[in-house]
Amino acid sequence: MADASGNKIAKNYYTDVPVKNEGFYLKGLNGYDWGIKDRMTRMFNPKSGRTVMLAFDHGYIMGPTAGLERMDITVTPLIEYADVLMCTRGALRSCVPANSNKPVALRCSTGATLLRELSYECIGVNIDDAIRLNASAMAIQVFAGAEFEHNSLKNLAETVDAGVRYGIPTLGVTAVGKDMVRDARYLGMATRVCAELGCQFVKTYYCSEGFEEVVAGCPVPIVIAGGKKLPEDEALEMCWNAINEGAAGVDMGRNIFQAQDPIAMIQAVREIVHNNETAEKAYQLYCDTKK
Ligand code: R5P
Repeated sequence: MADASGNKIAKNYYTDVPVKNEGFYLKGLNGYDWGIKDRMTRMFNPKSGRTVMLAFDHGYIMGPTAGLERMDITVTPLIEYADVLMCTRGALRSCVPANSNKPVALRCSTGATLLRELSYECIGVNIDDAIRLNASAMAIQVFAGAEFEHNSLKNLAETVDAGVRYGIPTLGVTAVGKDMVRDARYLGMATRVCAELGCQFVKTYYCSEGFEEVVAGCPVPIVIAGGKKLPEDEALEMCWNAINEGAAGVDMGRNIFQAQDPIAMIQAVREIVHNNETAEKAYQLYCDTKK
């Protein structure tokens, strides 16, 4: 068994040596079956190898979050600009038109709200309903280092088992508890644990130091969450930095739906993610498009 303390610091990430993606264009996924690859291809643009996921699952722990009070009004106009919709089954069935024809990363872990211990989650959607909703991925939150770390890792492992049975990828979402620091060491550990447990892609936060090593140490694609609302130019800069340092896309919520002009913002994010546009040019586009 690996020792918990006294280990040498991991540092040989070979960030200058790209991983060989033989057979399939996404890192680490060549060994999977056709169904998993097909669903990953629906989510990650084969040309850019990247994705713009729109996250609006916040209500499952926070209730009516600013910008999501009326999802039928605020989310619906953004759908056409997103590559993937990340939401709960409640939001999907009540507010997303079934003819949107967008891949869905279905929020499948649940069991807590902001009022109690967030890490006390279980699997809240069974595989039958994920299949019924034609989910392209199932998203499970992992709380490394938190009180109920064990439950969250079990939720992830069991979802991966169900997912591979039916060809549905699992997205491991690294939640950072209030006592944790969002640094490369923590995020590198949490993302790697998710990948080792078998999820096909991982969502984490960007960190300004060492993010390249977080990406290099994770054998499957990483997408970044946006986190709390930032001024639009800063959010675009964070997005550019993450992409430039190896992220395969974003799974962004508040920095899109709480922007002054959410439609202009998601278009600016797309320019960076799919067209390698600089943060400055994307912000200019945002200002030009903004109403
Ligand atoms: C949190 O409840 C969800 O997992 C969100 O999907 C995630 O935090 C991404 O949204 P944001 O960009 O607002 O952080």
